[in-house]
Amino acid sequence: MNVPYEVRADIPLTEKVIYFDNAATSLMPLPVAEAINTYYLEYKGNVHRGVHILSQRASSAYDDARRKVAEFINASFEEIVFVKNTTEALNYVAMGFPFEEGSKVVTTELEHHSNFLPFFRLQEKGVKLEVIEATEEGTLKDQREKIEDAALLTCSYVSNALGTILPVKKLGRLAHKTGALFCVDAAQAAGHMPVDVQELDCDFLTFSGHKGPMGPTGIGVLYVRKSLQKRLNPLFLGGGMIKDVSLTGYEIADPPERYEAGTPHIAGAVGLAAAVDYIEQIGLSKIQEQEKKLTDYTLDALSAIDGVTWYSTRKDHAGVISFNVEGLHPHDTASILDNHDIMVRSGHHCALPIMKRLNLSGTVRASYHCFNTLEEVELMEVILKEISKSLI
Ligand code: ALA
Repeated sequence: MNVPYEVRADIPLTEKVIYFDNAATSLMPLPVAEAINTYYLEYKGNVHRGVHILSQRASSAYDDARRKVAEFINASFEEIVFVKNTTEALNYVAMGFPFEEGSKVVTTELEHHSNFLPFFRLQEKGVKLEVIEATEEGTLKDQREKIEDAALLTCSYVSNALGTILPVKKLGRLAHKTGALFCVDAAQAAGHMPVDVQELDCDFLTFSGHKGPMGPTGIGVLYVRKSLQKRLNPLFLGGGMIKDVSLTGYEIADPPERYEAGTPHIAGAVGLAAAVDYIEQIGLSKIQEQEKKLTDYTLDALSAIDGVTWYSTRKDHAGVISFNVEGLHPHDTASILDNHDIMVRSGHHCALPIMKRLNLSGTVRASYHCFNTLEEVELMEVILKEISKSLI
């Protein structure tokens, strides 16, 4: 598939706006929207609950979706739990795993609040929290002693606030060496770069369907390594997750049903599977190549504009770029860009600990996908030059 133009042809919104807010949510290609529509209009039935044809069709589409997602991250069918989003998945790990009083959980200063707060709150249960500090460049300090004797290390693959790619493989090795479990928040990686749970050797991994994969909102994935499935407790009880119920007790079903009480987001799973198909059709290497081209150009361009500062380091940088125009609040810069139909996010990006480390109240964040073009980035460059010139 030709990147970016064939992808743009599938995304009508790219004709109207310059969309640089893919880290918040990506735009949706037509085949994904069509797959969702087809479920709702042609075979909307509930899953695993009926013998009629619509239920059968819905069940088989839902199972196929799980199979597709499992292949996408090199997991097995039973290891994929469909959840609402990355936030829910990380809360699942924090609340569903029986962390003992006095045990230690480690996170990092670079995390999105979703990979910080659920673990922070475990302190109420007597769990100790250690936080690996970030450097001024938005990478992590070497504080491996913090991982010693930990029950879990959790960290993001790519920082949503600064775009730095963390050394997740190395962190996983360190965690396992000391006997800790390893959890990866792949919200800003899935759909942008290969995510392989075997290669990462992680115990839990989470991502949302609506960001990198370009799928619908309301569907996310929690990968749970097979050997841990009996230890992670289901958070919700109800329909669809039991083997047997009597007035005196109940027996929980095997994974993945174990974790999916109630009617799941069937259309979401079907849409996510179509989105994964679409990503595979483009090819992750082409996606990475296009995003790297745009990122390299942006970092050069921003470096050359007086009064513009960008944060983090060039090394291991994904297509998420945080910057500020001197003298302007990030929201004002974003509003000016919005007046030119350029959509970026501004603020603290739900990552206040790293903002505080960098002494920032917020940044402007441009985040790319493979449908973005160099011409679009050049237009942002021109406007940023004009803004900063007017402020000198
Ligand atoms: N987590 C999303 C972001 O970083 C919403 O913008």
